[in-house]
Amino acid sequence: MTTPDHAGAKADKVLGRMISLSDETATLALGAAIAAQLRRGDVVTLCGDLGAGKTTLSRGILHALGHVGPVPSPTFTLVQHYETAQLHVAHFDLYRLASRDEIFELGFDDARHDGAVLVEWPEILGQDLTGNWLEIRFEDAGEGRSVCLSGHGDWVERLQAIGD
Ligand SMILES: Nc1ncnc2c1ncn2[C@@H]1O[C@H](COP(=O)(O)OP(=O)(O)O)[C@@H](O)[C@H]1O
Ligand SMILES: [Mg+2]
Repeated sequence: MTTPDHAGAKADKVLGRMISLSDETATLALGAAIAAQLRRGDVVTLCGDLGAGKTTLSRGILHALGHVGPVPSPTFTLVQHYETAQLHVAHFDLYRLASRDEIFELGFDDARHDGAVLVEWPEILGQDLTGNWLEIRFEDAGEGRSVCLSGHGDWVERLQAIGD
């Protein structure tokens, strides 16, 4: 199910791993596996078209952290905050942002200082995030999806525990 895919731009910092997700349950299970590794200071970026599964995966992460209740898409609110038993989580959607500065006005740095940050439509952030960062890219795969996971910082090691 998992094979190393590509080494990415920074070969010593990034591990690319493809995972097949045959249905929504598999997407939620991947969210639970990520939640088990998630720590304060982490950024998880979620790339993929509308309907790819970005919010579903975020829901899997949040429910595994103990959040009870809905996990709406942050399309209109731009950010939703969750206080789970273990971790504060801020869930951003940057689709509607016009400039990179706006994300910092939305409290991105504070959210990362206080907890973990999930980001849908992260393209405006560019590729120069520092620290512990998990990059997730969704692709269509027949009836299901596949994702490519790339780790930066400690996520290089933490990815070993995911998808096996
Ligand atoms: N692995 C999967 N295979 C097939 N359908 C999936 C899979 N994961 C999620 N879905 C479905 O795809 C849709 C994704 O919606 P959503 O998570 O809101 O996407 P996004 O946030 O990327 O726009 C949902 O209807 C969900 O049930
Ligand atoms: Mg979404």
